[in-house]
Amino acid sequence: MADTNVTISKGLEGIYIADTKLCKIDGTNGKLWYRGYPIEALADSSNYEEVAFLLLHGHLPTKSEYEIFVKKLVDEREVPDAIEEIVAEFSGRTHPNDILRTCVSVLSSYDTDMEDKSVEANEERAIKLIAKMPTIVAMIGRYRQGKPVIRPLAKLSHTANFLYMLTGREPDKEAAKLIDLMFILHAEHGSNASTFSTLVTGSTLADVYASVVAGISTLRGPLHGGADEAALKMMRAIGEPDNTEKYIEDALAGKQRIMGFGHRVYKAYDPRAKIVYNYLKIFMKKTTDPSVEKLLEIAIRAEKLMEEKLSKTKGIWPNIDFFSGPLYTGIDVPSDLFTPVFASARVVGWCAHLFEYWQNNRLFRPLDNYTGELDVKYVPIDRR
Ligand code: CMC
Repeated sequence: MADTNVTISKGLEGIYIADTKLCKIDGTNGKLWYRGYPIEALADSSNYEEVAFLLLHGHLPTKSEYEIFVKKLVDEREVPDAIEEIVAEFSGRTHPNDILRTCVSVLSSYDTDMEDKSVEANEERAIKLIAKMPTIVAMIGRYRQGKPVIRPLAKLSHTANFLYMLTGREPDKEAAKLIDLMFILHAEHGSNASTFSTLVTGSTLADVYASVVAGISTLRGPLHGGADEAALKMMRAIGEPDNTEKYIEDALAGKQRIMGFGHRVYKAYDPRAKIVYNYLKIFMKKTTDPSVEKLLEIAIRAEKLMEEKLSKTKGIWPNIDFFSGPLYTGIDVPSDLFTPVFASARVVGWCAHLFEYWQNNRLFRPLDNYTGELDVKYVPIDRR
């Protein structure tokens, strides 16, 4: 008999799972801080390496801390040959995020002492993952384009090197800023679904690789990290700016969700979406790529209509994934790499949360409310 005194929080809405010093989201006013620093300041003035250090260590690095951290990341960019074999085998038929998930799992086999669960050993693992995941994603991108793999270039920053390995060109100042911006904005975001699943796995005292694999898997779906790819797919399906209003009206009439809109926590404009949009506008002044211009026009018209239809009445505003597609397109990141790029940036948030949670670990073990029958009589198979 179902217990009638049970309150179920669907999707764990409103449930706090831990104290954290990593990230604060003010969903009512559309504000976000990493370790107390406003996201706008980090987006404008910092870089991904510094933000990664901040998230992992709780303070901005000194010059020498920064140099040591950057060197560690640069030294760990290469991946074992087995990774390229996996990418070569599966890149033609498997989604890049799924290949990334498998490759990260395989990286655990190259860890020389999995029994060492010290803080230092775990931080080394985080550095390996932060450094190697962009290399794997770029490699997947190269194979999917039928182009030769490009080895990392030590003189480039973490994110400029990623774009270089993906496109074969050292990015100019604008492209380097935009990819770095996207990594900063995706680095951390509280106890979202993928971070939570990282913590659930980690709470069993499973290792860093297993926990990050859980995060990558959870990120994949279109309600979470897959939304930017889905939003761009929608913009491409709209095709021409003049088709936008009819497409959105029809989609809403058919009870479809508009990808890149809405958020469990933000009931105001996602501050990350605002930042992406502002940088995209600056970038548009310097590019003449008509396909990006068209995508942006579609996005702006869709946003305007959504504002009339849903934003003001239901608090469904653009989230970070809405303007990401046009921006990534402008710097030649293909849409099927959006989610693994997200994962490559978010890995720092996953690890930072995991290490924070492990300081006061408790196994996650929620309850479900049984609503089926009890004491059902067993009937042997030949009498059913
Ligand atoms: N388009 C149209 N209607 C929407 C949308 C949307 N994007 N999002 C929510 N709604 C409606 C939904 O249909 C429901 O309406 P009703 O009350 O009439 O049934 C109401 O808003 C509440 O929806 P919900 O699913 O209960 O709300 P949630 O807090 O679980 O939703 C969400 C959060 C992100 C899953 C949802 O907004 C959504 O599906 N958005 C599209 C996918 C997306 O952009 N995801 C990226 C999120 S941000 C980046 C990240 O974390 O990965």
